[in-house]
Amino acid sequence: MTNLKGKDILHANQFSKKDIEAIIKVASNFERELKKKDSLTLLKGKILATLFYEPSTRTRLSFETAMQRLGGGVISMGSVESSSVAKGETLADTVRTVSQYADVIVIRHPRTGSAREAADAVPIPVINAGDGTGQHPTQALLDIYTIKKELGSLNNLTISMVGDLKYGRTVHALVELLSLYQTRVYFVSPHTLRMPEEITSDLKQKGIEIEETEDMMKAASASDLIYMTRIQKERFTDLSEYEKLKGSYIINEEFLKKLNKKMTILHPLPRVDEITPEVDTYPGAAYFRQVRNGVFVRMALLSMIFRKR
Ligand code: NCD
Repeated sequence: MTNLKGKDILHANQFSKKDIEAIIKVASNFERELKKKDSLTLLKGKILATLFYEPSTRTRLSFETAMQRLGGGVISMGSVESSSVAKGETLADTVRTVSQYADVIVIRHPRTGSAREAADAVPIPVINAGDGTGQHPTQALLDIYTIKKELGSLNNLTISMVGDLKYGRTVHALVELLSLYQTRVYFVSPHTLRMPEEITSDLKQKGIEIEETEDMMKAASASDLIYMTRIQKERFTDLSEYEKLKGSYIINEEFLKKLNKKMTILHPLPRVDEITPEVDTYPGAAYFRQVRNGVFVRMALLSMIFRKR
């Protein structure tokens, strides 16, 4: 039996296949319920705090939406400049303070390992909404939910992950979950943005078939799904290096025509230039459906943390 009650969500590797299946089930129940009702009262009286030390649109707003759809309340630190962080307050002191107000904390921070640091400082559950180039476990869960919905199954898939595999925390987290399903994976990136060695060697050890290539067409031709990512400009110390790499991979109409097969396309968003807007009407372009699924999956996680589902 999956038990998320009172637990932190820090790293994708904390989830078993059984956990994932339970989360998918609860999330799809919420998806169904929200078709009949705008909101529920399951978490009435509970308060969620969002602490975002890095920009966000989807992750923060979908957590806030999820909590409000469950009948709970939301407090938000707003920008770093407008909080005491600007006065030099430590992360531990900030989360200790927030834990006096809220029942669960959702945090995004530029330092890898920061979510765990925050979790260690407080007795209430902490959810990692992105720690630097580290992890983004709730995104990985909503990606898995989307893959299951779009393709009907999580078994026997071949997936191309494309773009910034070095700095992209979404792919670091997602591949961890996919490895539970014996997925075949193509890692498509410029040489300098390859998937970190510790991740590829861990996957190999788990018996996952992986192939690293710079050729998106070759990988896509053999895949059921492309997971596109943005080159993470903010992680580069040398911006001229970014300038050289941006635009490395672009999915446009021409690419899809040449590919000439049915393809599901996901992207955690935001996109810069890696998927052109003309692709949005392509039936396999699932990235805005993926955005919506984020609400159901985060509702599932919150309700399970408070042991209400
Ligand atoms: C991603 C992130 O912040 O890691 N966005 C998201 O949470 N949906 C991806 C990115 O910023 O490129």
